[in-house]
Amino acid sequence: MEYTQEVKKTTDPIYQKISKVMPEIEWSVHAPYIHKINKLKKDKNAVILAHNYQTPEIYHGIADFSADSLALAVEASKTSADIIVMAGVHFMAETAKLMSPNKKVLLPDMKAGCSLSSSITGKDVRLLKEKYPGVPVVSYVNTSADVKAETDVCCTSANAVKIVKSLDVKKVIFLPDDYLAKYVASQTDVEIISWKGICIVHDQFNENEINNIRKTNPGIKIIAHPECPPEVIKASDFAGSTSGMINYVRDNQPKKVMMVTECSMSDNIQVENPNVEFIRPCNMCPHMKKITLPKILNCLENETGEIIMDKKTINKARLSVEKMVAIGR
Ligand code: 13P
Ligand code: SF4
Repeated sequence: MEYTQEVKKTTDPIYQKISKVMPEIEWSVHAPYIHKINKLKKDKNAVILAHNYQTPEIYHGIADFSADSLALAVEASKTSADIIVMAGVHFMAETAKLMSPNKKVLLPDMKAGCSLSSSITGKDVRLLKEKYPGVPVVSYVNTSADVKAETDVCCTSANAVKIVKSLDVKKVIFLPDDYLAKYVASQTDVEIISWKGICIVHDQFNENEINNIRKTNPGIKIIAHPECPPEVIKASDFAGSTSGMINYVRDNQPKKVMMVTECSMSDNIQVENPNVEFIRPCNMCPHMKKITLPKILNCLENETGEIIMDKKTINKARLSVEKMVAIGR
């Protein structure tokens, strides 16, 4: 694909926005794809939903809506597009399909999974329900539709505490993120039965690293995702979902900040926060990084990577996501 004058002209306004985080030589590779994808999505009445961990050329170049997983689920239920392309991972595309069962939902790489989602199956949940009869099941949205179908109410990192409190019970089964379960337990009086799932990205951070960064960067604000180990969250100034972290930076404009999360977050929001210095020890999600512009173009052009689920699973699983959306953030 060529970086022609026409491509340069139409994509230049986007490049001007992100030139701080991308050299022009790299842009010349992305721009022809961005040009073609943006045209094609109009022709096909498609919408591109992107998670906050997508790379800047996707987040700023082609996404119609970029957000955390809760807002992506809500947006999927509202769109009037015929096709939804999920620039994210498999559970996000499945959730979009649950919220918009009559739309075509496409995922550019079917192998874009999630260590949390693959840690538990619907059968595991059925066994837990047999072991703890009558105890409600709260599942993180980072789960398969089979798990959601066995779930009373879903949650994301943005509303986990609120969802658990809303049940007004003494005990809940909270799946599958053991660290998020510990975080919820620390914020409520509810007894939590958890599962041993972890996020391979956030599990890599440790307390020493955080303390060293603080020592060498006086005054820095350290903000962490609740999928981090509890001691990392304790050593941080704030914990919140990816959008919660973005809002924190936007509202507080710290001089220096470290986002204890996936690497693309700092790049993406540096654009809108030019006066904030981002200290960047970060970890990459191998699943999120499977999504690229060429794969998005291919899936949109050929309508490949369609999410197909049987009606029974859709109807059962959708209830748990709808209950979550009704409770809100
Ligand atoms: P958010 O819900 O905070 O966006 O994070 C979910 C996640 O783990 C994305 O991989
Ligand atoms: Fe899953 Fe962690 Fe990657 Fe999010 S960052 S998709 S939780 S592995």
